[in-house]
Amino acid sequence: MRYRGYPIEQLAEKCSFLEVAYLVLFGELPTEPELKEWTDKITYHTMLHESTKKSLEGFRHDAHPMGMFISTVAALSTIYPDARNVLDPEVRKLQIYRLIGKVPTIAAYCYRHSLGFPYVYPDNDLSYTENFMNMLWRMVGPMYQANSALARALDILFILHADHEQNCSANMMRSAGSSQADPFVATAAAALSGPLHGGASKEVLKMLDEIGSKDRIPAYIEQIKAGHGKLMGFGHRIYKNYDPRARIIKWAADQVFQVTGRNPKLDIALELERIALEDEYFIKRKLYPNVDFYSGIIYQAMGFDPAMFTVLFAIPRTVGWLAQWQEMIMDPEQKIARPRQIYIGHNVRDFVSIEKR
Ligand code: SDX
Repeated sequence: MRYRGYPIEQLAEKCSFLEVAYLVLFGELPTEPELKEWTDKITYHTMLHESTKKSLEGFRHDAHPMGMFISTVAALSTIYPDARNVLDPEVRKLQIYRLIGKVPTIAAYCYRHSLGFPYVYPDNDLSYTENFMNMLWRMVGPMYQANSALARALDILFILHADHEQNCSANMMRSAGSSQADPFVATAAAALSGPLHGGASKEVLKMLDEIGSKDRIPAYIEQIKAGHGKLMGFGHRIYKNYDPRARIIKWAADQVFQVTGRNPKLDIALELERIALEDEYFIKRKLYPNVDFYSGIIYQAMGFDPAMFTVLFAIPRTVGWLAQWQEMIMDPEQKIARPRQIYIGHNVRDFVSIEKR
């Protein structure tokens, strides 16, 4: 897996998320001055219009964070009507700053709303992930200090989730954007929340809880092989071998557990992987762990509520969606999306009145 030709392993080891975001969006790694300007621009746009707090208050206390997140991203189009001028490169760039800057703030506000806690404003002196953690977890007492190892692990997780070609949600972004709708409503159209896509990491935790202990893995796998459900976090539309991101996430898990203590679910996940990779059913179908198999275990250890996992996927993937959107808008051959279809319904026939039906 590579972003613009650079192996994901090297980027995860040597770059910050914003550095990789610049690469994914503009095609080259930024110089020092370019990275400083880029970081300053994103940081400048982390604040939300105060009216956003009022619209968030309209959600029930137990509203799903992803539903609140998507709705609030779409509502940005009501605050920034200039975003409709998608053919103007400067307008596009401003919306890219706004979206990448604001998605962590929106995510944190949704989380704080679900807890009934006051919102924490962005702190422009903090890095992208430290600021996000501060908005999530700072209480009214002493100043919150994000653990640097956890902030770096989150930065790496964001790098791994930044883009992934024409996946389900990137395709949605391109299709919605092809009507020249503004990038806020196009981003909100993204289908990431489904359990077969970005919602898988939460389903993995549910699966590991259902298994409960290593000795119950064989029976669970027999259930899957009998066609009762899927092994969540396994399989991929494209990867018919090990998802390279899963390998890096496993490494990042060790860094996180040195701080948080080991998540016992990891032992079940490792044993489940070991058994599945030796089983003919999964080998024959080329089913390997994907990016979602281990990510939820880390996020839970870091203190994230599983309801937030898809939002945690959406934050970095906003970069990839915007890169795909910008490439589509700039493509001179681009037309509005209308997939071909094969009609298999009735041929022409005359109307039948209701008395004769
Ligand atoms: C992401 O596309 C991307 O790039 C997505 C993503 C990204 O970064 O954007 O990588 C992120 O969405 C990762 C995927 C997260 N989803 C899950 O972990 C959910 C569990 N996985 C499956 O639902 C499934 O593997 C999919 C949806 C990911 C892929 O579905 P496909 O392409 O239909 O799977 P396939 O064609 O490879 O299936 C081949 C066979 C079939 O069985 P048979 O009909 O041949 O008997 O394998 C079976 C499938 O039923 N199968 C599984 C399985 N995944 C496929 N059987 C058990 N467990 C599974 N997880």
